[in-house]
Amino acid sequence: MNQKIFIKTFGCQMNEYDSNRIYDTVKKIGYFKTDNYEDANCFLLNTCHIRDKAKEKVYHEIGRVKKSFRLKKKPLIIVAGCVAQAENQEMLKREPFIDLVIGPQSYHKINDTILDYIKKNKKIEETEFDVVSKFDYLSKIKNDSGKVSSFLTIQEGCDKFCHFCVVPYTRGPEYSRPFKQILSEAKYLIDNGTKEIILLGQNVNAYNYQGLKLSNLILEIEKFSKIKRIRYTTSHPKDMTDDLIEVYKTSKKLMPLIHLPVQSGSNKILNLMNRKHNIEEYLKIFDNLKKINFNIEFSSDFIIGYPGEEDQDFENTLELIRKVKFINSYSFIFSPRPGTVAADLKLIDKKISMKRLEKIQNLLFENQISKNKYLKNKIINVLVENLTEDKTKVFGRSEYMTSVIFNGKKEDIGKIVPVEIREINRSTLFGISTINSNQRVA
Ligand code: SAM
Ligand code: SF4
Ligand code: F3S
Repeated sequence: MNQKIFIKTFGCQMNEYDSNRIYDTVKKIGYFKTDNYEDANCFLLNTCHIRDKAKEKVYHEIGRVKKSFRLKKKPLIIVAGCVAQAENQEMLKREPFIDLVIGPQSYHKINDTILDYIKKNKKIEETEFDVVSKFDYLSKIKNDSGKVSSFLTIQEGCDKFCHFCVVPYTRGPEYSRPFKQILSEAKYLIDNGTKEIILLGQNVNAYNYQGLKLSNLILEIEKFSKIKRIRYTTSHPKDMTDDLIEVYKTSKKLMPLIHLPVQSGSNKILNLMNRKHNIEEYLKIFDNLKKINFNIEFSSDFIIGYPGEEDQDFENTLELIRKVKFINSYSFIFSPRPGTVAADLKLIDKKISMKRLEKIQNLLFENQISKNKYLKNKIINVLVENLTEDKTKVFGRSEYMTSVIFNGKKEDIGKIVPVEIREINRSTLFGISTINSNQRVA
């Protein structure tokens, strides 16, 4: 009998990629994807540990599933991802409804783990760091989760140890996948309809496989004639090397939006965070890229209220935002994480952090709105991804990742269509297709 698996994914794009690869893997043992968890015989939670409450969210979610299955046969419950890595055995002890706990570097063992569990009915925790075997295994399983825009993980883990962050502990040391393995996955995705590849890694620009870097990978993927757009995320300023900056001069397919988290505009705070770069170095990258192409835009992550952040430090962050005019950015209040250096530092007053968060978000929203307003009545290129839910329009993305909805057709999916923007809000642009018109594309 075919089994049905439902995966609920939290956290970053790498978790999303992993969830899709798990779907590709478990169908080999007869577990097929369902979009309705009440139909599932197997429920997998792919978790994120980046901020507090992550763990509680897992138990809350399991409580919900428990309730729904009260009068039915208990589904197989698997907890995967970064909380699984951080909490492992403890989870099995605290919540008997959980059957298996699998860390992010052990997914290649998921089929054996499930089969073993079914055979012996014994709970299993699998949280070894075995990243080489993981990607060796995954390269033999076809990536059938590709869409018009597909994720492709090329790098995992982190050696940087920012004082606030759990990633080096949950994902392990930096590892770069073999160059050819990535190209063959890219080819498979492209042969199956992918038009945009988003290269992923916790430190994607630290990619280095026997001297081959992210810049080499971009230029190689670009050679596939059917690929239209290439992006990469998330980058660390320290790894924004000259070769990568130079690619922006030659590449025709690399998109002009760079997600380059800075966290704070204050050198004092960057130092306390152990970020290994300062604002002057960050602005140098900004200047160099703007010189190559003035249309390149930056997005970023900000941590507000890091221990030691004073009014002046926060002002410096606002000043940086005014200078760089970040779009599409994320900002969160510092959340102390167990096991990290910053876990026990003295927190600043919550009310002050909240006020600062509101201020920074308003400024980031203003940037976004003014960028979107500027596009009104202009024509932009949109890569069409799918029909809207009511099927009357199509959804796609601009070169800057902004959502665009317009009067396209099903046949437009996978194509780049020039769209004249008529209406905007902070997150979405609305327009009409200008195909057949001779207007210039912005
Ligand atoms: N490697 C990337 C970098 O260094 O920029 C970031 C990866 S991390 C998964 C994504 C974002 O989560 C970080 O840029 C940071 O802003 C945020 N983050 C990480 N730990 C945090 C914490 N303890 N509290 C609040 N935000 C946090
Ligand atoms: Fe976390 Fe810092 Fe590594 Fe990014 S570079 S994943 S923020 S430790
Ligand atoms: Fe979260 Fe792990 Fe990604 S902690 S942000 S799922 S690397």
